[in-house]
Amino acid sequence: MTGKQDILLSKKRIDDRVKELAKEISLHYKDKNLVVVGILNGAFIFLSDLVRSMSVEHRIDFIRVSSYGKNTSSSGIIQLTKDVELEVKGQDVLLVEDIVDTGNTLSWLQTHFADKEVASLKICSFINKKERRVADVEVDYYGFDVDKGFLVGYGLDYNEQYRYLPHVSELNLD
Ligand code: IMP
Ligand code: MG
Repeated sequence: MTGKQDILLSKKRIDDRVKELAKEISLHYKDKNLVVVGILNGAFIFLSDLVRSMSVEHRIDFIRVSSYGKNTSSSGIIQLTKDVELEVKGQDVLLVEDIVDTGNTLSWLQTHFADKEVASLKICSFINKKERRVADVEVDYYGFDVDKGFLVGYGLDYNEQYRYLPHVSELNLD
């Protein structure tokens, strides 16, 4: 990233919000059969912080889909490149995503998990970006709402770069 980037979400703000989310989620899934499913690669940092602040028992698995090419807008065509490996039939699945943009990825995944006959499916996204939403998906839990912009850091990438940043910045594409 060239030039100075303003920090949109500081590490402290992120940490505080993730702890709040973990508390809310733990209350909801008390006495349920929770499987937390992270969507690779973007959700790995958010998921690892979230689950370590959760106080409810759960198992963890990952799924990977590709929808983005090497640019900043969704192709709308979703390809499953790695499925979950745990048996999720009859389980309460919480899908953990880095950012919901058009909603195409999650809309596809909702059908994918419905086909697996899960008992329930909810979505938890670190960022809920609403401006380009085309698919009608309900984001049950989210860390932060943003209107627009291309964000990087805390798992979010641009061409696989910047995921490691402990804060979130807006990428300046000029
Ligand atoms: P959707 O299918 O358009 O909702 O796209 C979701 C995926 O697009 C996310 O999992 C991200 O990988 C990627 N994406 C969308 N917006 C951003 C962004 O601002 N920064 C980084 N990745 C993004
Ligand atoms: Mg992603």
